Amino acid sequence: MAGPDRSFPAGFRWGAATAAYQIEGAWDADGKGPSNWDTRAHRPGGLADGATGDVACDHYHHLAEDLALMRRLGLTSYRFSVSWPRVQPAGRGRWNPRGLAFYDRLVDGLLAAGIEPMLTLYHWDHPQPLEDAGGWTERDTAARFADYAAGVAAHLGDRVTRWITVNEPLSVMHDNMTGGSGDAAERRRRGLLIAHHLLLAHGLAVPRVREASRRSEIGISLNLAGMSPASDQPADVAAAARARAYEDRLFLDPLCGRGYPVVDGRPAVDCDPADLDVVTVPLDLLGVNWYAPARIAADDGGLFGYARTAFPGVPRNMLGWPVAPSHFGRLLAWLRQNYPELPPIHITENGQPGVDGVDVSGAVPDLPRVRYLRACLAQLRAALDAGMDIRGYHVWSLLDNLEWEHGYRPQFGLVHVDFATLARTPKASYHWYRQFIAAQRTGGQGAAWSD
Ligand code: FCB
Repeated sequence: MAGPDRSFPAGFRWGAATAAYQIEGAWDADGKGPSNWDTRAHRPGGLADGATGDVACDHYHHLAEDLALMRRLGLTSYRFSVSWPRVQPAGRGRWNPRGLAFYDRLVDGLLAAGIEPMLTLYHWDHPQPLEDAGGWTERDTAARFADYAAGVAAHLGDRVTRWITVNEPLSVMHDNMTGGSGDAAERRRRGLLIAHHLLLAHGLAVPRVREASRRSEIGISLNLAGMSPASDQPADVAAAARARAYEDRLFLDPLCGRGYPVVDGRPAVDCDPADLDVVTVPLDLLGVNWYAPARIAADDGGLFGYARTAFPGVPRNMLGWPVAPSHFGRLLAWLRQNYPELPPIHITENGQPGVDGVDVSGAVPDLPRVRYLRACLAQLRAALDAGMDIRGYHVWSLLDNLEWEHGYRPQFGLVHVDFATLARTPKASYHWYRQFIAAQRTGGQGAAWSD
């Protein structure tokens, strides 16, 4: 286990992450328009347990309290997303000044607390009128996104210097392949089309943000798993290679100027070669979201001929994901070996779900989360030792929040939220992370690695 010499470089960013739809609430306040996620949540059978983001953590009305929690935690970076329908309700044209004013207050509050804002432009909620027009299956949505990005950058680019265009395009692709109609071929076609339009949106947005915010660093956040074949049988080894092509490499390769990965002798995505020039815009950073590795077996029933299977003997968390922090180091090593051309990396999400309650003493003893985060940080520290340029780390998440289709049951927060009263209670992981950050910032790191 890491010892007293395990300090991180000075200036390493210590962060936590959230996303607009998951925490803000205020779904129709102050001129905000409905989003695709509002519509989905309001539909019968939409999200688990009938959950909606109508109120969520009501962060919109608890901004001062949440900023105080971040300041006390000692964060030096906070990753949040802008709700597109809050600032541009129709997805084109008119801006909503009251929506923009909320992000002014947030950004100004962060800067006053000495916390660098990292702004995600798209964390999955877009204006319903764009969804009605076809959402990400429409190529025009990419152009709309670039205009939106330019508008947000014109408004906040004097104060926000770190930008993420799109969060986890792979998750959006998967969500659209599993949901909705169509046979396997139609689902594949739709998923890959959406993947391409999200990359195009990214590529079109980057120069627009740079124009408006010249001191900015810009990148994209990818969820990368790291693929292990379930056996050394050729079928499983080939399946793992396919999983890499359709997941871990699908966005990395075109971003790095290599075009789409080749599967069965053809690029995984058909597109106009001119689009690839747009996608391969130089980046200042790559955001990496990591939660769990994948063990892959051949499976003809899978959309791309493979399926995930359990790691024997590895515990699983409440969402069924393997708890295997050592694979975080393997993923980082894989990136280092296979993508030497990558820009500096920021870990934009890493975390662990649980079922956490406040006990009689008022504490929330989420020790499995502390162990998981500490083990991931040890892997990160080892990757720095191996020479990787990693500049920051964000825990998912600051607050318990709306975990998309899973509703409110999986809790990822460093801070417990009682969704009946909206009371916030820092968990054991919050106190541990506060000490860890403080020790790193003052150079006395020894204690920070222990419980
Ligand atoms: C990621 C999402 C984030 C959150 C975590 C648990 O895929 O980016 O919003 O749901 O998973």
